[in-house]
Amino acid sequence: MTYNKKTIEDIAVAGKKVIARCDFNVPMKDGVITDDKRIVGALPTIKYLLDQGAAVILCSHFGRPHNILDAKLELDKKEKKKVEALPEAEQAAATAKFLEAAKGDDKKFSLAPVAKRLSELLGIEVQMATDVVGPDAKAKAAALRPGQVLLLENVRFHKKETKNDPEFAKEMASMAEIFVNDAFGTAHRAHASTAGLADYLPAVCGYLIQKEISIMGGALADPKRPFVAILGGAKVSDKIGVINNLIEKVDTLIVGGGMAYTFFKAQGLEIGTSICEHDKLDLALELMAKAKAKGVRFLLPLDNKLGREYAPDTESMVVDSDSIPAGWMGLDVGPKTQALFAEVLANAGTVIWNGPMGVSEWDNFAAGTEAVAKAVAESDAISIIGGGDSAAAVEKLGFADRMTHVSTGGGASLEFLEGKTLPGIACLLDK
Ligand code: 3PG
Repeated sequence: MTYNKKTIEDIAVAGKKVIARCDFNVPMKDGVITDDKRIVGALPTIKYLLDQGAAVILCSHFGRPHNILDAKLELDKKEKKKVEALPEAEQAAATAKFLEAAKGDDKKFSLAPVAKRLSELLGIEVQMATDVVGPDAKAKAAALRPGQVLLLENVRFHKKETKNDPEFAKEMASMAEIFVNDAFGTAHRAHASTAGLADYLPAVCGYLIQKEISIMGGALADPKRPFVAILGGAKVSDKIGVINNLIEKVDTLIVGGGMAYTFFKAQGLEIGTSICEHDKLDLALELMAKAKAKGVRFLLPLDNKLGREYAPDTESMVVDSDSIPAGWMGLDVGPKTQALFAEVLANAGTVIWNGPMGVSEWDNFAAGTEAVAKAVAESDAISIIGGGDSAAAVEKLGFADRMTHVSTGGGASLEFLEGKTLPGIACLLDK
């Protein structure tokens, strides 16, 4: 999917109230932000809007809370079923207990820590609204002057957000004159604040979305060759769409990580106790046949680091892929594989990488993922890291600056690589 969307530079924002959707869904522990990459990623757009003299109303989701602002008196569907299964006399107490817990739980989904971090990064006060479309948000938005910033509370405190309720989107839109979407990480969701707002306001993208679609879209539409995709992760089922779409475009497709064992099993190899999706064996063969028919080189690991059991300090050994003994499980790719993959990556013109090569969060089984990260960093290829675990690995190893682009989207970048339409981008004005 190639997009050519209007950006913040294509619309006059001076003196206007602009509502900008960001993805501030940041990792947080006990109210402390542990990684502010997504906030930093939104700064160029926010700074541009402020420099141009806009009054900036920011909004975002954070986590998946229980819609506290409108669900206080209601149960979510799943909980309702559980409560209805109880004897009638116990239902009222169970309902009350759930709602209390939901309220307590939801407090930790407040965006207040993000407002604080944003204030530090921007060097100006970021006001915080206690609601999204309630009296506090509306009063603060109405009083907002050019050069000032207001952050609305977590949009997912309302059920209507994820339902893309038109009335809710209209109410949010009533506070502003222009909608800017810069939440790439949430662009695959058709929610009120990611797509619904575009029905009521002129809608353009911010710099982050523009960068994501131009680099990833450019690589997919017109790659510098050889074009190599390296895909990992545990399950073939999570990556079917990506594999299918990329087979049409790449010269070489490398498959590592847990999903490689489904491909081995499909070819009749012994895989011991390695992870395997038995209902995807035919599909694995089909994907390999499709690659062959298209002339795409399809590479699987040559050797593997096996563990006795699924544990960080388990006994381990390295064996070739055709010699996996019963009772052992593959937890990483071995050194021969690392060398082969590194050689292919060194000669690539464009690389897209998504998914770890093994259980990379465990030191004993992180070497394969680290070798790939290093090889991609050292190659002269246009390198695109498709969010999630591979982005985390690249960051952790300090290679992020050496990549052409590390996507801020996990699910969104996967859907982009699958060639799916992203509703948060499709809704924006075309150039
Ligand atoms: C993410 O972290 O992938 C995005 O913020 C989207 O979050 P969601 O999966 O809860 O919609």
